[in-house]
Amino acid sequence: MSDGKGRVTLRGIRKDYGSFQALKGIDLDIEAQEFFALLGPSGSGKSTTLRVIAGLETPDAGTMTVDGQDVTHAEPGERNVAMVFQNYALYPHMTVEQNIGFPLRMDGVPRSQIPPLVLEAARRVRIDHLLHRRPGQLSGGQQQRCALARAIVRRPRLFLLDEPLSNLDAQLRLETRVELKRLHRSLDVTTVYVTHDQEEAMTIADRMAVFLDGEIVQVGTPDDVFNRPDNLAVAAFIGSPPMNLLPGRFEDGAVILAGERIALTHRSERAAGDVVAGIRPSHIRVAETGVPARVVLSENLGETMLVNAEIEGRPVKVRLPEVRRIGDGETVRLVFEPNHIHLFDPQSKRRID
Ligand SMILES: Nc1ncnc2c1ncn2[C@@H]1O[C@H](COP(=O)(O)OP(=O)(O)O)[C@@H](O)[C@H]1O
Ligand SMILES: [Mg+2]
Repeated sequence: MSDGKGRVTLRGIRKDYGSFQALKGIDLDIEAQEFFALLGPSGSGKSTTLRVIAGLETPDAGTMTVDGQDVTHAEPGERNVAMVFQNYALYPHMTVEQNIGFPLRMDGVPRSQIPPLVLEAARRVRIDHLLHRRPGQLSGGQQQRCALARAIVRRPRLFLLDEPLSNLDAQLRLETRVELKRLHRSLDVTTVYVTHDQEEAMTIADRMAVFLDGEIVQVGTPDDVFNRPDNLAVAAFIGSPPMNLLPGRFEDGAVILAGERIALTHRSERAAGDVVAGIRPSHIRVAETGVPARVVLSENLGETMLVNAEIEGRPVKVRLPEVRRIGDGETVRLVFEPNHIHLFDPQSKRRID
């Protein structure tokens, strides 16, 4: 049973596949009982990290502890973890009840104690009316809940989920996301959640690690990652579409973009120099004055409009809060909201604060 902890640390975790470095030295601290997301594009090392945490993969270097205890070389069964995979991995010949009870039978829990535990787990994910069906008689969403119930029935110390919603349709994904959050609150178990979907990570996680090419490029709350990206890699990845990144110059408390001087509200004491200015599409307005831009294509998204334009030949995306007529090829003027401009150092690629 859960001892109410589950604090995970990874130090210098490396994993090589032949000459390919899948993980290049991961450091991570996951607090007890938090909902922590591993977010990144496909192939960035999220699943490998989760498998290392589960004990399904042995790292080539580095250490892992849980609640201060070194488990780097512990078997999966010794770690008290439960994992839910994208494809659910249910046993097709067993009923829902037998599937959920399976880990308990493997643990040698006395037969008489199993049914109430199975019923409680099934109730938590609202499939207690389906206990006698087989997986083949369930919808995708119900199968997913069955996999969740099987994972939580033992009250693990760590709950690991690898893209658990990706086989569900869009509507069900949204509903299940809310349920997962609710489930996490009621269980209070450390949850590590792999996803490539940033909206999912942003809405569900207390904190997240952003992965790129086998490295963690930022750790923080969704608010940190979205509003204070640490570096250009995160700035270019987060947001849909992500931030515009434009070369500019910082001088006397202002940033100069395409010849236009934009006075910033803070950051006055910094030395003059080249910068990369980042601004989200929703923090740019079309106005009478401002930086001239040529419209390439404007897309009507129903409630908003996405204008694809170019400033001095560089692509810029602008999200307008209302749909209006803007012709392709037209020249417009863009105003950047000064308090929403992020500055990055073009050499170190790091955020300038
Ligand atoms: N067993 C393996 N053998 C060889 N390469 C692998 C193996 N597992 C993963 N990789 C490679 O390691 C990288 C990271 O994989 P993975 O952790 O699954 O990425 P993610 O989950 O972020 O999509 C990928 O380039 C993948 O092809
Ligand atoms: Mg993966």
